[in-house]
Amino acid sequence: MKSFYLTTAIDYVNGSPHLGHAYEKVLADVIARSRRMMGDDVYFLTGTDEHGQKIQQSARAKGVPTQQFVDDVAAEFVALTKLLNLSNNDFIRTTEPRHKQVVRDILQQLFGKGEIYRAEYQGFYSTRQEQFLQEKDRLPDGRWPEIFGEVTEITEANYFFKLRSYQQWLIDYVTAHEDFVFPAHRRKSLLEFLSEPLNDLCISRPKERLEWGIPLPFDENYVTYVWFDALLNYYSAVIEKGRWPADYNIIGKDILIPAHGIYWPIMLHACGLPPPKTLLVHGWWSINGDKMSKSTGNFIDPVAFCQDWKVDSLRYFLIREMTVGADSDFSMEQFLVRYNSELANNLGNLVNRTINMTTRFAGGVVPAAGPAEDAERELQQLWTQTRDEVFRLNAGLQFHLGLERTMAFVTATNAYIEKRAPWKLAKDTSPAGQALLHTSLATMAEALRLAVTLLWPVMPTVADKVRGGLAQAPLARWDGELEWGIRLAGAKLQPVEILFPKPATEKKG
Ligand code: MSP
Repeated sequence: MKSFYLTTAIDYVNGSPHLGHAYEKVLADVIARSRRMMGDDVYFLTGTDEHGQKIQQSARAKGVPTQQFVDDVAAEFVALTKLLNLSNNDFIRTTEPRHKQVVRDILQQLFGKGEIYRAEYQGFYSTRQEQFLQEKDRLPDGRWPEIFGEVTEITEANYFFKLRSYQQWLIDYVTAHEDFVFPAHRRKSLLEFLSEPLNDLCISRPKERLEWGIPLPFDENYVTYVWFDALLNYYSAVIEKGRWPADYNIIGKDILIPAHGIYWPIMLHACGLPPPKTLLVHGWWSINGDKMSKSTGNFIDPVAFCQDWKVDSLRYFLIREMTVGADSDFSMEQFLVRYNSELANNLGNLVNRTINMTTRFAGGVVPAAGPAEDAERELQQLWTQTRDEVFRLNAGLQFHLGLERTMAFVTATNAYIEKRAPWKLAKDTSPAGQALLHTSLATMAEALRLAVTLLWPVMPTVADKVRGGLAQAPLARWDGELEWGIRLAGAKLQPVEILFPKPATEKKG
């Protein structure tokens, strides 16, 4: 079995989950589920990023002890994995001892090797924002913006990781490994960024400024800079499982440069470890054409959304609408267009027709098919093409097109039903008429079985319900399940609940 290890970014727990978090996790889940169906030994990790200034500040603003605050918000993210029906094997929190220990071990190792050094750092510091400022933060007239409050020039001793000494190694590595970043244009931006000299990375924060972090093992007056801590989750979670390197580190476009594209491979290389095989970089969702923002109400709460709409409809929409790597927009109008035309009227309709017609015209038992005629042969051929094409598309992470092709096959199956019109054949009592009726019922049931089996990674609950209706066991592997066959002959169909209820237009997102 091929081992396949994939991760998502770990979410900050300074606020509740939103649609962007949900998308990334669903994308990872679709890949994980597809790989398991193909027979890989998959390990899927997700989790939460719980240290640092922002989180300490959010806890203080709420007036709750920081540990309690992160426990509460982390619980929301764990709940989201259940709500979205994610098949993750583990959920890591960076405040867990298993993670903190690995971070400290690695810091000690790098310090011992001379990869981390202590130096004075001089710069402009905003006490209100508790951060060092850069020249680019100044207003055009040279003053500091109001939000920074009082700004003073201070000198502070800190610890630095020798990023710069690995710059050439990284350039060579990224140049030689086309698969290191997906999509290709992001790899190009990374190389462009690397054409300017890097600074060494400040990896410490004095405890007087920030308490909420992992203490440096060689100087307890400091805590670890949150990115140095957070990136290591991908490794700390699997250190005992021998899964490193990851096949995919799935991340959003905002955290490629510098964190995942620069710090991360260099940290690993300095420890003698290989970089992840691929940084899979997805785009961002806007909502109704604007940036997602809680304060303006331009926001989709995945929990509320899944109360109104079944989770598989959300999963379908997210994967169907967004091209992996590009940005996309979420609007209720667009959701409803796809929900109505692709899910309710196309797939839902095929499920209902198959079960109802088999019940009415064959006592609820799928008949044996007679010899295939042109219409059946065409549908079978279309299936083989569709399946092969979907596999090719999925291998290139073109899941949105894979779904489009699968739905085109569902459309073709509905058209086949129109053509055969079993309701007319049922009135033809001649042996030929009855044989064709049986063939058409068997053909539509088989086409439906195949379509939902291929849709399983995106809509696992829907697919298993339909398979249940066709008297098929829940799916474990694709092996042999995607071949057109006669396995349904004699199957006693069961009623399936309405999967995509209408009228959809009256619901709110
Ligand atoms: N904690 C860091 C990641 C550390 S990984 C070692 C972080 N957290 S985050 O909560 O801000 O973002 C988590 C993920 O959600 C990131 O990959 C980010 O790109 C993604 N998204 C945040 N907003 C998004 C959209 N509007 N759309 C799609 N994904 C978005 O960054």
